[in-house]
Amino acid sequence: VKVHQIQGITGASTIITGERLQNIETYLPSENVIILTDENTKKYHRQHFPQGEVITIGSGEGVKNLDTVRDIYSGLLELEADRSSFILGIGGGVVCDIAGFVASTYMRGIRFGFVASTLLSQVDASVGGKNGVNFSGYKNMVGVFNQPQFVICDSNLLKTLPIREIRCGLAEVIKQAAVADAELFAYLEKHHTRALALENEVIEKVVHASVVIKSNIVNSDETEKGERRKLNFGHTFGHAIEKITGLPHGEAISIGMMMAVTVSEMKGRVTPVAVQRLEALLEKFELPTGLEIDRQRLLNALRKDKKRNRDKISFVLLNGIGDAVVEEFDLKELEDDFLNEPLR
Ligand SMILES: NC(=O)c1ccc[n+]([C@@H]2O[C@H](COP(=O)([O-])OP(=O)(O)OC[C@H]3O[C@@H](n4cnc5c(N)ncnc54)[C@H](O)[C@@H]3O)[C@@H](O)[C@H]2O)c1
Repeated sequence: VKVHQIQGITGASTIITGERLQNIETYLPSENVIILTDENTKKYHRQHFPQGEVITIGSGEGVKNLDTVRDIYSGLLELEADRSSFILGIGGGVVCDIAGFVASTYMRGIRFGFVASTLLSQVDASVGGKNGVNFSGYKNMVGVFNQPQFVICDSNLLKTLPIREIRCGLAEVIKQAAVADAELFAYLEKHHTRALALENEVIEKVVHASVVIKSNIVNSDETEKGERRKLNFGHTFGHAIEKITGLPHGEAISIGMMMAVTVSEMKGRVTPVAVQRLEALLEKFELPTGLEIDRQRLLNALRKDKKRNRDKISFVLLNGIGDAVVEEFDLKELEDDFLNEPLR
């Protein structure tokens, strides 16, 4: 078991990797625990849930909205939840994002913690204290920054996930390694087969390393003013691709990273060797690295990116593997480069 602590402005959060859902009781108060989960997580892992009332929501991004939040508030009222209650979210990013938001707002905020059950939620969504839901077609439009008391990452839970979800989680791991940890990047290059097979030793090491990367960045910049924006590597193009094609987030990010690294190369930052290493690693995990797409359409979608600050767009470039920088670009400049150069 490895423990890592985040010191957030709203309090400390302990991230525990290599722990098992079966041992969750030791982290919980002795009473008034209410479990929030989704139908899939419950279907596969109910037998290891701790004592407590269970509120179950549907699965997928479509339930991450204020209607679901309202239903959960009603459920909490019915269960007579009060300020002494503790909300335990057991699930993927969707459950964690909703559980954190509900717990932060119900009765002006009650205690909460997560058991992250997808690779994406273990390495990314559950770490960092961002909680919220989608609204009116915009992702994560309504939410709060608030740290969970703990996040438990149990690698055994990952074994019931579809392989495509594993690959998508690994895309975020590769992103974190690419921007901040050359050693993890090299480890993934070496152990990709064992990582994909979810060998506990390898996947726990990978999850822990990711948690350390993300939490170090979050520690230094909790509300995303500087450092934290590096974690958006691949996401500017990635979000646009996700919108246009409907590809899963991780796959869109994989293509987005290749586009971003190509722009980095055009700007004379990263070497062709580093570009090749990124491409080869993504391919080892069978993640897509290119896309036939109408360039102008992609740019239009990019213009709508919420990180756009008038005519500037903030963009993450790689200097090398494990070294990233955030740059403000004129959208126009990016468009010129982008429309005129071959970009995969
Ligand atoms: N708060 C943050 O900082 C942050 C960061 C990144 C992503 N996110 C959010 O996370 C969400 C995506 O997370 P996700 O990929 O975990 O999606 P998810 O929660 O929808 O889970 C993916 C699918 O796997 C199922 N599932 C969950 N655990 C399972 C298990 N152990 N076995 C089998 N199936 C299981 C779910 O029911 C769902 O169908 C997005 O809404 C995204 O916005 C938040």
